[in-house]
Amino acid sequence: MRDNPKDRLTQIDLYIERLFAPPDPALEKALRRSQEAGLPEINVSPNEGRLLQLLAEITGVRRILEIGTLGGYSTIHLARALPEDGMMITLELNEAYARVARENIAHAGLEERVEVRVGDAKAMLAGMVEEGAEPFDLTFIDADKESYTEYLERSLLLARPGSLILADNAIRGGSVIEPEDGSARATHEFNESLANDPRLSALILPLIRGGMDGLAVARVL
Ligand code: SAH
Ligand code: DHB
Ligand code: MG
Repeated sequence: MRDNPKDRLTQIDLYIERLFAPPDPALEKALRRSQEAGLPEINVSPNEGRLLQLLAEITGVRRILEIGTLGGYSTIHLARALPEDGMMITLELNEAYARVARENIAHAGLEERVEVRVGDAKAMLAGMVEEGAEPFDLTFIDADKESYTEYLERSLLLARPGSLILADNAIRGGSVIEPEDGSARATHEFNESLANDPRLSALILPLIRGGMDGLAVARVL
């Protein structure tokens, strides 16, 4: 019997994963510890993690900003792209999640390069803008969807020409096409801002993971 299209997509995702995202002890442990600690399983997929790392490598990042740490699974991928003297700041609202992330990051041998900051990302970003923080080469937005447009504005204030701004969950199973809840509506509005902002050159890459989702990729002009 022929597979239905969704199963086929999942098989394709796993095919790519087997080839390009082979078993990795630090990443597997990070997911296991996150699960043990009761964190929601809403981390990026292994393939999306690989894509994040690759985009960071291509950009030649020295400074990375992440908004939404959870257990540090995406953090580990991104931080692996940093040179010895590079640095990453990742922002997380939930203190307990941040503790798990710090453990996972340390176990991956990246604690020297990654700082997990706890609090509301909006306030922390405003503080960074205020104190004139050095621009980031790459920002990954992956926290509460209702705040994405605000995160984009703040990220632009913390970027330089050539910086990358990435955002997870840009497609949400297609719910952005005809949004029926606040979160899908906010994501669609964010996508429109990204598409229409003259300061950016951008696109959404559709990704397979369970259902379909997407990674928004924008380059600051
Ligand atoms: N990037 C992670 C997943 C992040 S899930 C990964 O792929 O591994 C989204 C995270 O954003 C959650 O941990 C949630 O606690 C955090 N978050 C939600 N609202 C926030 C806010 N206002 N400020 C900072 N973090 C927030
Ligand atoms: C949710 C958040 C995410 O960042 C994600 O990748 C998937 C789901 C959520 O809040 O449901
Ligand atoms: Mg996400």
